[in-house]
Amino acid sequence: MKSLIIYRSVHKGNTEKIAKVIAEELISDIVSVSELNNFDVSSYDLIGFGSGIYMANFNGFVISVIDKLQGFNGKKVFIFSTSGSPKSFFNSFDKRIKKKIKENNGILVGEFNCQGFDAFGPFKLVGGINKGRPNDLDIENTRKFARKLKEAN
Ligand SMILES: Cc1cc2nc3c(=O)[nH]c(=O)nc-3n(C[C@H](O)[C@H](O)[C@H](O)COP(=O)(O)O)c2cc1C
Repeated sequence: MKSLIIYRSVHKGNTEKIAKVIAEELISDIVSVSELNNFDVSSYDLIGFGSGIYMANFNGFVISVIDKLQGFNGKKVFIFSTSGSPKSFFNSFDKRIKKKIKENNGILVGEFNCQGFDAFGPFKLVGGINKGRPNDLDIENTRKFARKLKEAN
């Protein structure tokens, strides 16, 4: 199984940490969306999109790059994110990226979220929240997610 991870991590490098762990487990190619220069993904079996959550959404570049990928139609896809607040029914910040994946006929086969250090806005005044995260347990959960993904695909 050949896989590619496309990610964006601008705040504290939290998502990059997670992206690298998944890439290690999957033995995947990995690229920051700003450095992506080959948009032809036809040779990949599985594509992962990762991002910090900014203003209740995945990063706009990560969402919009999906329209530009050649050979994306019918590909297996997974998404992952790090965020200040936990993902929940009321806090489903993945709606836009899921819609975009669906519009481009991607097949969502996995999703992962964990909390990350957040010193944005008012949180800066208190020294940030989720200090030290992603922590060892988050990394272990990331590995478990990636291994399951590998087994199932
Ligand atoms: C501009 C900005 C907006 C953010 N908005 C949210 C948000 O709406 N919801 C949330 O849970 N976290 C929010 N956060 C926290 C980030 O999602 C969190 O710190 C994440 O781990 C950052 O990932 P990164 O270090 O890979 O960029 C925001 C952070 C920044 C800098």
